[in-house]
Amino acid sequence: MSSVPLPPFAQRTSRLRASTIRELLKLTESRDILSLAGGLPSPDSFPLIDLRRESDRLLSEFGPSVVQYSATDGVPVLRSWIAEHAGATFGRTVDPETQILVTHGSQQALDLIGKVMVDEGDVVVVEDPGYLGMIQCFDLYGPQFEAVPGDENGMRTDVLAERLANGLRPKLVYVVANFHNPTGATLAFARRQHLAELADAYGFLIVEDDPYGAIRFRGAELAPVASFSDRVVHLSTFSKMVAPGFRVGWCIGPPAIIAMLNKAKQATDLHTSTFAQYLLANLVSQPGWLDDHRRSIVPIYRERADALADALAAEFGERALFHRPDGGMFLWATFPELTNTDAFAVNSIEAGVAFIPGQAFAVDQQPRSTARFSFATLSPEQLRVAAARLGQAYANTTKGTP
Ligand SMILES: Cc1ncc(COP(=O)(O)O)c(C=O)c1O
Repeated sequence: MSSVPLPPFAQRTSRLRASTIRELLKLTESRDILSLAGGLPSPDSFPLIDLRRESDRLLSEFGPSVVQYSATDGVPVLRSWIAEHAGATFGRTVDPETQILVTHGSQQALDLIGKVMVDEGDVVVVEDPGYLGMIQCFDLYGPQFEAVPGDENGMRTDVLAERLANGLRPKLVYVVANFHNPTGATLAFARRQHLAELADAYGFLIVEDDPYGAIRFRGAELAPVASFSDRVVHLSTFSKMVAPGFRVGWCIGPPAIIAMLNKAKQATDLHTSTFAQYLLANLVSQPGWLDDHRRSIVPIYRERADALADALAAEFGERALFHRPDGGMFLWATFPELTNTDAFAVNSIEAGVAFIPGQAFAVDQQPRSTARFSFATLSPEQLRVAAARLGQAYANTTKGTP
């Protein structure tokens, strides 16, 4: 073996943040811990029987063509379904030829957007707290993040408007408009319109990331930001609606941007799995399939969200403040008695339950008295046990403090 050291890494790797979540997940795998940390979709929601039937049919009827290389944009049957599905919610026609790119999960769309849009020093407006996967992948391209606070109605567009009026000139504004990760908040209707107006007035591009919109268990659906402006790249995915392991997502946007993302994707991975695309497209385009599937999975998440919210309310009372989730996979809580939730997280692991401290989602990575609990993976019974263990860990954390 040579004793000559390996060449150094590219300078940009110094900006790669390790994901606290992945580190914590490693820890929870090795012990008998109830994990509220991950946010993995419920395995009970995966339509395994339908997937098996459809994959047998595709392989026997179409053989080699469903496992061949395919076009970078995505297979036509999937792009047609996306165009129809999105067109209905956008309230305008989406052209499957020029406005859609199928990606390896919506995470890849974020990375491609970073690659083709973000130069060092460009201003990217994000919500604080924000989706860690977005912060991690945009960070690599050296933007200046501008954190705009949010509340239970999503990003404070009034704060954004004020900063724009004072000279802020972002290139991108990133929002998770439905059941935000980590806060669970949904961007209010008026704020969606306002954000779109600001984009049209100041010329920035909105990245609307929507993996959770289909998991709504209370209240009426809201029109996407993309329905109010065409300066939007709208991201979605089959990860939460069907199953994440296929890694099939997509983005819809202005033709010039989709064409550039397409070039970047060609260089990255040629195309998304042909078979996974055919399989999912053939499943979801069967008349009524998706509606039936949603009707069967949404109650699973509603029951779990309610079980966790009830158990936390009973266990913590006023010591934990949170809004009951209306959809998605996360409950975001503030613990006013704590200055940060780090020791609470460590004590929780000791007590046999894991969650992610709020600091992990802070754009400035400073301590926070918040925590993200995912109710997606555990059963209602397990969630009640998890809440009891959290209560015990909390008591250990505050023991001795006045
Ligand atoms: C807000 C947000 N965006 C994107 C993703 C990535 O999803 P996908 O599995 O489609 O890559 C996630 C996954 O948890 C997410 O929470």
